Amino acid sequence: MSVFCANGRGAYRNGLRRCAVMAVISIPLTAWATAPSTSLLRHGRYLVRDVGMCADCHTPRDRHGKEIVARWLRGGPLNFKPAHPIPEWARHSSDLIHLARRWTTQQWIRFLRSGIAPNGKPARPPMPDIHLSYYDARAVTAYIRSLKH
Ligand code: HEC
Repeated sequence: MSVFCANGRGAYRNGLRRCAVMAVISIPLTAWATAPSTSLLRHGRYLVRDVGMCADCHTPRDRHGKEIVARWLRGGPLNFKPAHPIPEWARHSSDLIHLARRWTTQQWIRFLRSGIAPNGKPARPPMPDIHLSYYDARAVTAYIRSLKH
């Protein structure tokens, strides 16, 4: 971007216009090239822990029903069933730490925005039909990616 902006002499007006176009195009690209900001990670943590309640289903539990902290978001058998049969009901939740490495950022954002996984299908119930904003999807993805266990 700075190459275009530094082009001061001669076609000044043209240079300015190009400068503006480059600024618009480069924002989403540079945003991902740099490390996620603390506020993005903090927002992702809030969404995962306090709003989406992802751990309720995605963290396995011990035999007393307590979440196994060392396996946080690692997926496992669900400890509840529907009162009436629901077609396609999944009995296991996915390992989100594993998927954080396997899926690309674009695949995560698509899933969190539309509910459609990389295989072109929605996740089975009881995974909620999730529709986050772009910012929220980025925040959740960055936060889950930042977890190391
Ligand atoms: C009420 C339980 C529940 C909650 C809450 C929940 N999930 Fe899930 N999720 C599941 C189950 C069960 C699956 C496995 C679905 C399947 O196998 O098709 C799943 C699958 C997924 C997948 C993989 C989808 C695929 O098709 O491979 C991702 C990613 C995911 N969940 C992310 C999240 C995130 C992020 C949150 C919190 C914002 C969340 N889930 C909250 C139950 C839940």
